[in-house]
Amino acid sequence: MKIIEVANYEEMSKAAAEIIIKTIHDNPKTVLGLATGGTPKGLYKELIHDYQEHKTDYSEMTSFNLDEYIGLSPDHPNSYYSYMNEVFFNYVNIKKENIHIPSGTNPSLEEECRNYEQTINNKGGIDIQILGIGENGHIGFNEPGTAFDTKTQVVQLAEMTREANSRYFNSLEDVPTKAITMGISTIMNAKQLILLVSGEKKAHALHQLLHSAVMESFPASILQTHKNVTIIADQDALRCSK
Ligand code: F6R
Repeated sequence: MKIIEVANYEEMSKAAAEIIIKTIHDNPKTVLGLATGGTPKGLYKELIHDYQEHKTDYSEMTSFNLDEYIGLSPDHPNSYYSYMNEVFFNYVNIKKENIHIPSGTNPSLEEECRNYEQTINNKGGIDIQILGIGENGHIGFNEPGTAFDTKTQVVQLAEMTREANSRYFNSLEDVPTKAITMGISTIMNAKQLILLVSGEKKAHALHQLLHSAVMESFPASILQTHKNVTIIADQDALRCSK
């Protein structure tokens, strides 16, 4: 695992943006795996800024998001579809038909999971996947105890995750209890992984990721076994790891 230590959130976002921009310049047809939540917002801001300044071309690239809440339609203000439009897609020239976010409202979620996995494979797999980490070690929405061989699946969200994400909803009751997420093996099949970690709140999880045994009770520990993973972490997040 390569670790890039940066001073703060802004530097983390800039370092991640540099990698993504270079990847897209080198290969305009890049298949990019994207994450939501608080952590990558700064990265998207940097990418938009770069787009405005340098017109980096997203017209040929394809994106796949990690996850979506079950029961929220794309136009729901708290869906990850809305999130992605608001923080990134609306501001760059990515083509609508090249955007993939699992649907949390497909009447057949099983079919949705199968199709999502198939579409990723049809595109030749994910070249570079952005990840955040939950305080409990989840990646995507794969909570502790998730089998490492899982593909895109429907999962029950841990109470801790619902509480953490309730900051975006009116109340905790409004946070869905289930999500559809790329599985651990879907994530591990990406050719390159970029994990972003910022803030003291994540310091314990990062320490565990770096030092614990590889075990399903701490999903992010599997990243230790990936051939090409870069962790970009700020000083607060690395506090316990030195
Ligand atoms: C988001 C995702 C999650 C988040 C994680 C951290 O698509 O899959 O794994 O990356 O919950 O969330 P934040 O960044 O809000 O702390």
